[in-house]
Amino acid sequence: MNNNIVDEIKSRCNIVDIIGRYVTLKRAGNSYKGLCPFHNEKTPSFVVSESKQFFNCFGCGESGDVISFVMKAENMDFHNAISKLAESCGIDMDKYGFKNESKKNEIYEMNRAAARYFYKNLTEKPNIGFGYMKKRGLDAKTIAKFGLGYAENSWSGLTDHLKSQGYKEEFMLQAGLISKSKNRYYDKFRNRIIFPIFNTRGKVIGFGGRTLGEDGPKYLNSPESNVFSKKNNLYGLNLTRQDINNNNYAIIVEGYMDLVSLYKNGVTNVAATLGTALTENQCQLLKRYTENIVLAYDADAAGQKAALRGIELLHKTGLKSKVLHVTDGKDPDEFIQKNGRTAFLELIDHALPYADYKLSVLKQRYDLSTSEGSIDFLKAAKEMLSGLSPVEADVYIKIISKETGISEGAIRREVNSETQENREIKINRSGSFNQSKGNKELKDETGNITLQKYFVKLLAVNPKYMPKIQKYESVFTQPACYRIYESMKNIWEEDSDIDIKKAADSVSPEDGEVFQHILDNITFPQEVDTVFAECIKTAEIEKMTARQDKILQMLNLLSENEEDKIDVLYKELMTIQSELKKTGN
Ligand code: CTP
Ligand code: MN
Repeated sequence: MNNNIVDEIKSRCNIVDIIGRYVTLKRAGNSYKGLCPFHNEKTPSFVVSESKQFFNCFGCGESGDVISFVMKAENMDFHNAISKLAESCGIDMDKYGFKNESKKNEIYEMNRAAARYFYKNLTEKPNIGFGYMKKRGLDAKTIAKFGLGYAENSWSGLTDHLKSQGYKEEFMLQAGLISKSKNRYYDKFRNRIIFPIFNTRGKVIGFGGRTLGEDGPKYLNSPESNVFSKKNNLYGLNLTRQDINNNNYAIIVEGYMDLVSLYKNGVTNVAATLGTALTENQCQLLKRYTENIVLAYDADAAGQKAALRGIELLHKTGLKSKVLHVTDGKDPDEFIQKNGRTAFLELIDHALPYADYKLSVLKQRYDLSTSEGSIDFLKAAKEMLSGLSPVEADVYIKIISKETGISEGAIRREVNSETQENREIKINRSGSFNQSKGNKELKDETGNITLQKYFVKLLAVNPKYMPKIQKYESVFTQPACYRIYESMKNIWEEDSDIDIKKAADSVSPEDGEVFQHILDNITFPQEVDTVFAECIKTAEIEKMTARQDKILQMLNLLSENEEDKIDVLYKELMTIQSELKKTGN
């Protein structure tokens, strides 16, 4: 990077003007003041000095020059921030020998040479790659279309080839084509099918390689660099974006092979993520071509989990999304090879839109035949419903009503009045331990978490408490505490005792830290048995209060003609409330 352009930018762009485009600045003595754009504040602590060409926030500590401001404010890397500033103050970047772009171009060129080399390996001489491709249903035409290739089982095939074309090993290393160990260079991709990855401008930005042997990961990708970034690109989009545009929807798949196989079978409006979850930038990229996305992920649990995450992100990004379920075979590739294009298009017809998909996932999680299950289901669905437009929400409220038997009116009330109801329920709640001064800490908002920590410490001090604490294990709602408790329980069940070191060793290092923290920081103000008794009392109250909340909620949602259910619940509620009264709650 040529330093001159940095100097030139700094001398031509007044930091006050540039920042003034983002923040309302008021003169204050020798400098300017405004509300910091990097943290939330009501009174200005963000100061810009014109004489020093420097900004500083006394609230969050962010500081720097005009370039670092743009990097931070626009979430840009150095190169892009420089380009933006140069453009806005009319600086010709080429004049300053701004090298980055041309180095990138050189890498693209070298990558293209590498792709051509891999392609020739696959198509111009006998090799096991070609047989493998045929076995997977690909023909010469598809291979040519995608420029697929084969990396021979050799440590230096590509290196030698590129050297003969005048490229330096250091440069190949930078581009991630080769690796270095003990001062020796060697080919990164060996005995693999090669998928060259293009950006939408048709440049070869990197490679994915599928192993044909047993060693190494199944897929190996080029390392991340300023040329190759997985989160900003989608495989195949260079070839498919026109079809995506024409069809006005894009199918997103997880794997290179899924994409190539769908394409070969005539489904050409597809793109593939590059071994990561769908990202926000990828959504933005897709938005240029269509607003409609169909996620076609693997049929396994991992694929379904990814679909759930993906659909949430798409919804947030304002894209209309559906999830397709592969009903035969493990992924779209297997499905279309077995069943053909028409059958795949039928899967698309049956793909579930956002809300339907989320409801179908939630329905699997809860037992709708019981009122408790229905209530929990509704609670979970509430969040999703509140993210829909009123008209959409109305449609789904009707559906939910049918499936749970809860009246539409009750669901609407539940969805709309959640904050108020929660407050009402909580009025009757107070902390526990009110009588014992020593445990003041347990009274605050984190009472429940504190209780969990006390239980953990109690178990460490005296494992014999386990059977009793086990009856209240539902109090372990904090994930780390729960995992620590679980591992102590497992040890107790095996050894009838709990060795603390063994327990610490059986949790993750992060949980181990939490465990250590609890051991160090929870101290007992009274005798251990007394503390234990207090904790059990608190747990009992927690349990009863939770049950009370749930009953209240169920009563709210039952319709009047369900008298017998209401009756049973009221009886239980009265018992609980009188018990709670005895304890002073
Ligand atoms: N992937 C990866 N690294 C791995 C495994 C997978 O980057 N070790 C990425 C690749 O982009 C791959 C995708 O995740 O295409 C899907 O992986 P998987 O479902 O395991 O592979 P398939 O596409 O089914 O591969 P194949 O059909 O070749 O077995
Ligand atoms: Mn597959």
